[in-house]
Amino acid sequence: MRSPLRNVNHACPTCHRWLEEELKARVDTIQTPTFDMRNLAMDALVDSIADIEAAGKTDEQLAKPRDFQHRSQFYVDFIEAENSTGIHAPQEAARILAESIDFSQKCQVALRPAT
Ligand code: HEC
Repeated sequence: MRSPLRNVNHACPTCHRWLEEELKARVDTIQTPTFDMRNLAMDALVDSIADIEAAGKTDEQLAKPRDFQHRSQFYVDFIEAENSTGIHAPQEAARILAESIDFSQKCQVALRPAT
């Protein structure tokens, strides 16, 4: 298996009549912002893991933050495993990455000392 983008003139013209350059430009328009969002989500996840490690809390105190972190991880993993960088459904990929960032943030908020 390999990406159909490696042979655009074979894989795409049955359905799309755009020239190869036009097709690739349209793909870039979707994939570049999705990849940027994926990087933001990944950075937020890594920061939340570092904060869990640095928190100096008990397993019991870390249960909620870890639950949020696992959820954040699941959403990023879904986008990574789906492997289209948004091409099949850009808005849905953006929604899933937003969920991931939100769970990373919830993880970090849950690590704050109780007031
Ligand atoms: C079996 C038919 C089919 C094949 C083959 C196919 N596509 Fe599509 N493609 C679609 C359909 C259907 C849509 C959705 C159109 C819509 O919702 O407006 C779409 C949408 C797209 C879009 C987003 C729409 C836009 O206006 O920018 C891009 C980009 C795209 N395809 C690129 C490709 C590329 C590159 C290939 C080859 C690697 C390819 N497609 C092969 C059917 C196909």
